[in-house]
Parts: sequence; C-alpha cells; structure tokens
Amino acid sequence: MKYRFKDNFWFGCAESAAQIEGFSAENSKAPSTWDHAFATQRHRFFHQHGPDDSRGFWQNYQADIKLMQKVGINSYRTSVSWARLMPDGYTINEASAAVYRDMLVHLKEAGIEPVITLMHFDMPLIMQQKGGWLSEEVVDAFAGYARQCFALFGDLVNNWITFNEPIVPIEGGYLYDFHYPFQRNFANAAQAAFNTQLAHSKVVNYFHDRNCAGRIGIVLNLTPSYPRSTHPADVHAATIADLFFNKSFLEPALNGRYPQALVDLLRQYGELPDVTPQNLDIIARSRVDMLGVNYYQPRRVQAKQTAISPSSPFMPDWFFDSYEMPGRTMNTSRGWEIHPQGIYDILTDLRLNYGNIPVFISENGMGVENEERWMENGEVNDQYRIDFMRQHLACIHQAVSEGSNCFGYHCWTFIDNWSWLNAYKNRYGLFRLDLSTQRRLPKASAKWYGELIKNNGFN
Ligand code: NOJ
Repeated sequence: MKYRFKDNFWFGCAESAAQIEGFSAENSKAPSTWDHAFATQRHRFFHQHGPDDSRGFWQNYQADIKLMQKVGINSYRTSVSWARLMPDGYTINEASAAVYRDMLVHLKEAGIEPVITLMHFDMPLIMQQKGGWLSEEVVDAFAGYARQCFALFGDLVNNWITFNEPIVPIEGGYLYDFHYPFQRNFANAAQAAFNTQLAHSKVVNYFHDRNCAGRIGIVLNLTPSYPRSTHPADVHAATIADLFFNKSFLEPALNGRYPQALVDLLRQYGELPDVTPQNLDIIARSRVDMLGVNYYQPRRVQAKQTAISPSSPFMPDWFFDSYEMPGRTMNTSRGWEIHPQGIYDILTDLRLNYGNIPVFISENGMGVENEERWMENGEVNDQYRIDFMRQHLACIHQAVSEGSNCFGYHCWTFIDNWSWLNAYKNRYGLFRLDLSTQRRLPKASAKWYGELIKNNGFN
C-alpha cells in the first residue's frame, strides 16, 4: 500500500453542537448568540435556515452513531452547547447533562473516541449580553462551565478542546461582520481576543493543576500565508498576516506568550488591549498537551497596493492585500483554493519550530454548492471530495514520514450540517442530508473513507 498510516492513527469526523443538534428549545436550552442572530436577522441566513433546522442529533444520535460505526471511524469531535448544559450560564440542567452522557456512552460502546470541544462559536446569549468575551465575568463563567464539564464527563472523555477556531468569532464578530455581535471595532476585537486566550489558559491551568485525566488542547484554523514574491514588501505583508491570523493564538497556546512583533505593532498604533500582569502570568504558565489544526485553504498575500486614508479605522488589512495566484486550483463552487501542500507546510512548521507538538488535523474537507448535480441513482458521486481528501492525506503522510507528530485526521464532516450564515449552502458531508425527509444517504466518499479506514491507508 502506497500510503499506510500507524495502527492507532485517528480517522474520524468533526462536527459541533449548534451545527447538528437542532431542537433549540428542548430541555430548556437557552438561546445562544446564533439562535438570537437568527431570530433577529433571519435575512442574513442562506435560504432562511436557522440553527433549529440543523439535523436533530439531539434526538437521533443513537442512529447517527450507528452510521459512524458502520463507516468505521475511530474518533469523533463534537462540542457541548454551554447554553444547553447550563441555560443560565452557571447551573447544570440535569436532563441535558444526562443526554450528553448517554451520547458519550454510545460513542464509547461503538469504539469511537470522543473529542469534546467546549466552545465552538455558540456563546449563550445571556453571556453575550454581559459583554461576551469583552467581559472578565464571562471569562470566569466559561472557566466554571469547563470545570463542570470535566466533572460531569471526565470519566468518558480523554481528549478535550477548549476553543474551536478562536480567531473566527473575533474576525466575524468584531472586524468583518459575519458573526454576532456583527461589529467592526478593532479595540473590541483585540480585547475579545485577549480575553478568549485568558479563558483558554484558565481552563488549561485548572485541568493540569487538578491532574484531570486525559489531555487538553485547542483547535486553530492555521492558514499558511504565502507571499506573492520574494520582494521584502510582500514577505513583510505575509509575516503580518501570519501574526494576526495564526500566531496570535498559536504562540500563547504553545509558548505562553504573544509574539513580540505583534505586541510591538499594536503598541506602535496604540491598539494594545488592556491586560494585567496577573492575566499575563495565567497565560504564561498554560501549555496545551496537543493541538488540532483545521485546514481548508492558504492565504495568498502581497504588499498593500493602495495607501490607507489616515481617517480609516485600524484593521489588520492595513498591512497587506490578498491576491489570487494565477493558475491556482480552485473549488469553484465554494470559491476556495485547493492547496494540499499547505497541510504539509503547517505540520512541518510545527515540527521544526514548535517542538513537534502532538497534533491532529481536526477539520479538512470540501464544501460544495448544489451537490445534487452529482446525484446518480440516488447517490452523490462526489469523486471531487475523494480526490480532495486523498491529496491532503498524501501530504499528511509525507509530513509524518519526515517525523511530524501528527496522530490523526478528522474530515469535515460526517453528515451534511448546518453552517452558520451559510446554513446548508455548502454541503460537506460524507452523507447527504435530505432536508425534507431528514434521510441520510451515503455519498461515494463515505464508502471510500470506510475502505481507507479498514486498510489503514490507501493507494
Ligand atoms: C470551520 C468551523 O469550525 C466549522 O464550524 C465550519 O462549519 C467549517 N469550518 C466549514 O466552513
């Protein structure tokens, strides 16, 4: 076999509570920011599908876990919904806790290792109303919620993730208007990013201080920043994009400190958030045990082409422009570049420059619009997805053969799921979800992935 993986390599799938559970009001679940965004700004959501239209895992998990078992995946990441487990942000809802426990028991019984994310974009609305990540009260409430999760589920979960893609709610919520609270305000973005890191570090420190069983990490959407040319201005632009969008969480999570170049840059423009020495100490002593990397596409960067007007508000894109590399391969339906080598570059960078930390690819996959175009005899023939996964897995294999500590791959996603403002626009699943009947129909990729798992590799 050309690409063979280690026997205990994780081959799994990833999802998140808000994107699959549905039943938004069941067991007294309180509204999250996404429920609220949908209730108040429905027009922003593709075809007006909100989180309640996600596919009902809350009630159908037993059947869906059987499907996972049939495909043969050995690990599965999803998240706990804070608003469901603790509707007021602080008090456990016993009925919800029992469902989560039962879900975990079913996963274990099916031989599927659960990987649990504590925060995957769905902040309880009541916490957002207190200021969200701008408020230290919310930071502490989150740490309390995490402690309860460890106590409730720690005997069933060995792999914990604090945050999924923490930079995304910062970009979306405070810079580029695609997550609640839909602001454009750099000062808030910087403060919310710092407080998110603080929340992460408090949870990691508690986990380690208490010797909780298992390991804890964070999932980052690392996006290699490739400069357009070797011209110093392009290289500098790419370095700055990397600081804002990768290193701003990677370095504190792995090394306990912010990159000096980012601190200097923000200081120079008067944009440093408020921090206390105590909070910096909390971050300084926290280290993740492992890292998850979500990878979809790289960032192509060139030096800024136009001058910034002195009155325009400070934004990361003061310092660089994106460009479309001629000849690049595209997923035209999603508008994203396909560049499998990026995954190799990330794993190699982690090996060479970050102590070869244990890492898994926590999301990778292909979103496709109008996928019914590829339906043949009732099945989506998604050869493009198979090719996509095969190419990325070949690059992971290469990185591992050179010594990367990568221990797994989770495809995004198992069954087509609801995806924030895009709702069901792009389908990512190995199974097609029929929205009118809720039936799950295997795509060609589900069978291919099953074979790969059986053989622990592919040709
Ligand atoms: C990243 C996020 O973690 C997930 O929630 C999202 O749906 C996928 N990528 C696809 O864009």
